[in-house]
Amino acid sequence: MKSTRLVFLLSALLVALLLCLESAPSSSSQQPANVEARINSLLARMTLEEKLGQLQQLDGEGNGNFRPEQLDLIRKGLLGSTLNVRGAQRTNQLQHVAMDESRLKIPVLLGFDVIHGYRTIFPIPLAEASSWDPRLSERSAGIAAKEAYAAGLHWTFAPMVDIARDPRWGRITEGAGEDPYLGAAFARARVLGFQGADYSAPGKILACAKHWVAYGAAEAGRDYNTTEVSEYTLRSIYFPPFKAAVDAGVGTLMSAFNDLNGVPTSANPFTLTKVLRNEWHFDGFVVSDYTAVKELINHGIAADDKDAARQALSAGVDMEMVSRLFNQNAPELLKEGNLSQATIDEAVRRILRIKLRLGLFEHPYVDESLERAAYLTSESRAAARDIASRSMVLLKNDAKTLPLNKNLGSIAVIGPLADDRRAPLGWWSGDGRDEDTVTPLAGVKAKVGSQTKITFAKGCEITGDSSAGFAEATAAARNAEVAIVFVGEAKEMVGEAASRSSLDLPGRQLDLIKEVYAAGKPTIVVLVNGRPPTIGWVVEKVPAILESWMGGTESGNAIADILFGDVNPGGKLPVTFPRVVGQVPIYYNHMNTGRPPEANNRYNSKYLDIPWTPQFPFGYGLSYTQFKIANLQLSSGRIAPAGKLTASVDVENVGSRAGDEVVQLYIRDVAASMTRPVKELKGFQRITLQPGERRRVEFVLDADRLGFWNREMRFVVEPGEFKVMVGSSSDEVIEKSFEVIGR
Ligand code: NOJ
Repeated sequence: MKSTRLVFLLSALLVALLLCLESAPSSSSQQPANVEARINSLLARMTLEEKLGQLQQLDGEGNGNFRPEQLDLIRKGLLGSTLNVRGAQRTNQLQHVAMDESRLKIPVLLGFDVIHGYRTIFPIPLAEASSWDPRLSERSAGIAAKEAYAAGLHWTFAPMVDIARDPRWGRITEGAGEDPYLGAAFARARVLGFQGADYSAPGKILACAKHWVAYGAAEAGRDYNTTEVSEYTLRSIYFPPFKAAVDAGVGTLMSAFNDLNGVPTSANPFTLTKVLRNEWHFDGFVVSDYTAVKELINHGIAADDKDAARQALSAGVDMEMVSRLFNQNAPELLKEGNLSQATIDEAVRRILRIKLRLGLFEHPYVDESLERAAYLTSESRAAARDIASRSMVLLKNDAKTLPLNKNLGSIAVIGPLADDRRAPLGWWSGDGRDEDTVTPLAGVKAKVGSQTKITFAKGCEITGDSSAGFAEATAAARNAEVAIVFVGEAKEMVGEAASRSSLDLPGRQLDLIKEVYAAGKPTIVVLVNGRPPTIGWVVEKVPAILESWMGGTESGNAIADILFGDVNPGGKLPVTFPRVVGQVPIYYNHMNTGRPPEANNRYNSKYLDIPWTPQFPFGYGLSYTQFKIANLQLSSGRIAPAGKLTASVDVENVGSRAGDEVVQLYIRDVAASMTRPVKELKGFQRITLQPGERRRVEFVLDADRLGFWNREMRFVVEPGEFKVMVGSSSDEVIEKSFEVIGR
């Protein structure tokens, strides 16, 4: 009797303890041991079907709605996550089913592509990278997180941190460009912006670094295409932004669509397990890209659904997006002994871990009364305007064509992108609305007084053959003091499944520029686009060119701020602009080759028909003022491999306006056991200087920056000479050398 009572008491205590563990405070105060104990307790109670349910993510019905089937599955405890379901009321409704009606009351994780804004749309990520100021991306991701959180979302499929060296690939628009160092800085910033220091905090959401990995290396820039990338290049170029995201605490990664060196990335044990888990100790979870598990059959490495499920799960994919092969096939795979219970449990564990860290069990709902007020506030709009103007790049400005005088008598605003509300929002524009966009025409109108006559002429469409509007456009230019021509790409021409074989301005837009230019008035071309274009004729003839990218909700105001000099442009290109598409892939951190290009020698690495140099190099961008970078000093001429040195330069604003310079530091390892790039970015700082102001800017060079992956794939710093180059772009630098000595 006594012992029965003791057993009863002990069991009661245990139950109380478990209950208490399950209502523990959110992740910030949750000890890892606590989280693991709660996972163990849940795992012990889950059926196989419930476990597999956690591994499933299903798409909504469209327009943010869920499908009735989703409610049913959630009620039965058979759905771990949704994508695209959003809105405070709808997400609460769905979550109530999980929390009130399901057996184990495991909350649903609600994901959405919040890439560069939720309702307030910020510049495309490629544009934000042009700011060379990662704090701006942290800020925009922070605002996007706040809005998404208010809509009941917990998780964004961002940042996209794929390195892209090929502008034919439409998704170049979603990343930070071609460089691993700049890419890593933006990856870190965006993860911090979305997640903060603690993603269980109100207004913060979980981030997802994607697409793991080398998706941006798609052959010929054709989306979803095969990738062949050596381990050396993976580790040197494609991995670093992901590593930065993991180090910044990103909770999830997304496995990609592409096959990589013969093994699709959604079934690749090398990338998913060896690198991610064993080397980087990532303990969040991996979601596959949309139907990527099912696509293993098309890739030709899986014979059927069951085989695809086995390979993806065993390689390290934890959650399956949209296709349902884990759920449909795991029970049989288990029975046959072709999949272990431990593999399934581990995937469930990783997903529950993130749900617990998010504090979802304690705070599954969002306050519906706060939703509307969170969207598109005046502060968010102001931030979007500021960030957009700081993301634009002045490509050419002969004879001080820009900035324009606000008192001009007349301005012709021309082109198919001048009054387009859609394109500036770019690909993936969350719940952004066209009607919220400030177009360039509206921005210019708002900037000038009533004394300035503005004439708008569209001239032509973005695509198509018609030149019917040319006459009106040239007349407008002829009758105005200046002509501003807005040309570029439509929203649908960039992003996923939007590869282009030509980088020229689509349709008749170049002809439109030529006609307007021929009218003889100072002509300014403003590009509204999502990838590097080929614009040789424009660069040769037109005196002023502004790369405004797809600048988001406030882009028209931001463009006007720059055109009229209220903001001095300070952005720099995060990606090389080719002269012609035939140069692609063209990037600054290439190898030297055995025969580096030389003008007067035929048997060198170059083309017969065009120069080998780009139209605009990586890191390039002008300002309305001028800067002088001089007096490069190294704190030491020799260091040990584990040592450090400081490089410093004087940066002086020698012009007459306040402005920003992005000071860039590159290195070159002159002779190493592997061929090394002619230049590698290893530091940058965007600084603001008043006219006449001079500042000493310092960079630290340490083993992390000097090392590389050797033939054994070990990260090493090798002895020998290093060049240090500092300047205002990758091809305008001053240099000094130092030596690494000893081993
Ligand atoms: C496919 C895209 O490749 C990925 O980036 C996105 O997150 C998912 N679809 C979900 O929309």
